[in-house]
Amino acid sequence: MTARLIDGLAMASQIRAGLAEHALDMKTRQGGIVPGLAVILVGDDPASQVYVRNKNRVCEEVGFRSYSHTLPSSTTEIDLLTLINGLNNNPQVNGILIQLPLPEHLNERTVINAIDPIKDVDGFHPVNVGRQTTGLMSLAPCTPLGCMMILNEDLPDLGGKKALVVGRSNIVGKPMALMLIQSSCTVTVAHSRTQNLREECLAADILVAAIGRPAFIKGDWIKEGAVVIDVGINRITDPETGKHKLCGDVEFDVARERAAAITPVPGGVGPMTIACLMQNTMQATMMQNGWGW
Ligand code: GUN
Repeated sequence: MTARLIDGLAMASQIRAGLAEHALDMKTRQGGIVPGLAVILVGDDPASQVYVRNKNRVCEEVGFRSYSHTLPSSTTEIDLLTLINGLNNNPQVNGILIQLPLPEHLNERTVINAIDPIKDVDGFHPVNVGRQTTGLMSLAPCTPLGCMMILNEDLPDLGGKKALVVGRSNIVGKPMALMLIQSSCTVTVAHSRTQNLREECLAADILVAAIGRPAFIKGDWIKEGAVVIDVGINRITDPETGKHKLCGDVEFDVARERAAAITPVPGGVGPMTIACLMQNTMQATMMQNGWGW
């Protein structure tokens, strides 16, 4: 079997088009409301700079306001908390995103906890994590949301499917497992201490790889006919050309011969993450304007 390639670029483009239409309608017919997203970058990590630039670009493309705050790596916690407090109280700002990782001297938990949960478009605040866990309406993390959208389109009924999530991060692995449970999958979470990862993979109808290690999941570990969602974005040097390229967490060429469907890297989950960030910003804007939560 040769897997169908899941076109995350096309799906994301459709979502952005829908949001642009919604934003225009909001602006013209619903009191001139324009969703606003503030993105904070502390330090000069090159990969983070690229992510932040893309977020700002897409924001403007869909007709949202984008507020970019680039701070030096020497920024103190107090200064960062003061900025967040200002954004919490600014009615033009509906969503606040702090690009991670932060420089080591800043406490990630303290900083995330300072964001007003109703503006927490990353879905990382404990209030949103708790609401998501108990099945209440919440702002949910963008990458697993994007993965769920892909899965829902690919498999109309997820109920009873065996899903394996490889990785247990707060950003992807844990919320991904929760969302799969909500969709009635039978979920296993594997991580660095998991034994017999190969066997766990071979049993999975759905495999979500979010470990951050290039081609860690071998292609012949994939169950025939499985759906493979590769969250990894790893920068490697191509041994043949010596050039840098992006590669996922799954050994793509071999996995492709066994899976029913697979997301490529790049062009799979990545574009969906940003589209979901825009969707969360729209949801936050609606919640702040009386649609409740
Ligand atoms: N760094 C890597 N992924 C993410 C993400 O989803 N959100 C934020 N804020 N930072 C990240």
